[in-house]
Amino acid sequence: MPAIAVLLSGSGSNLQALLDAQAAGELAGEVTLVVSDRAQAYGLQRALNAGIAAAYVPLATPRGPLRQQWEERLAGVIAAFEPDLIVLAGFMRVLSARFLERFPDRVINQHPALLPNDGGDTVTTSSGIVIPALRGAHVVADALRLGLPVTGCTIHRVTPRVDDGPILARAEVPILPDDTVETLHERIKAVERRLIVATVNRLLQG
Ligand code: GRF
Repeated sequence: MPAIAVLLSGSGSNLQALLDAQAAGELAGEVTLVVSDRAQAYGLQRALNAGIAAAYVPLATPRGPLRQQWEERLAGVIAAFEPDLIVLAGFMRVLSARFLERFPDRVINQHPALLPNDGGDTVTTSSGIVIPALRGAHVVADALRLGLPVTGCTIHRVTPRVDDGPILARAEVPILPDDTVETLHERIKAVERRLIVATVNRLLQG
């Protein structure tokens, strides 16, 4: 069974979707490691509840040589589990080219907005509307602030360019008139949870 490592910084509801699929015998791999840069990330608890190894690798100083040491520690923990796939499921740190070279073609990321295939600045939706490609950590709020009619989610391979890289899966989510960041993000996450299980299965089944 291919091994999967999940990196996260928060609640881990996408991790839970993978764990539920695994428990139901519907995952083409096995989550063997969950790593977080935040001690309070509930995703660590979800891993422990499921009897899966959970590691907290703290990053004390976001910049400078200590960051590189942190990334080396992180890579060392992950490498020890020899994962076939590394899923960034709400992991709020950018990984360097050096890290990615250590795990070539094995790192995928979930992003709560639509991203284009060509690395460009716009996305054309299924109904032909051209909207901005939203990148960064606040894209759900950005979609609301810009008054977009639709947003969505993307799963892509990770490259050194933030929120970029070949698209693996994408789904649209309409924005409702009374949406808040919370209601919209929750509807996006409901779609993301289905998409991540399907995408992991597709990748691991070759
Ligand atoms: C998801 O919306 C993902 O796209 C983003 O962070 C969120 C993680 O949600 N990168 P959860 O922690 O899995 O509930």
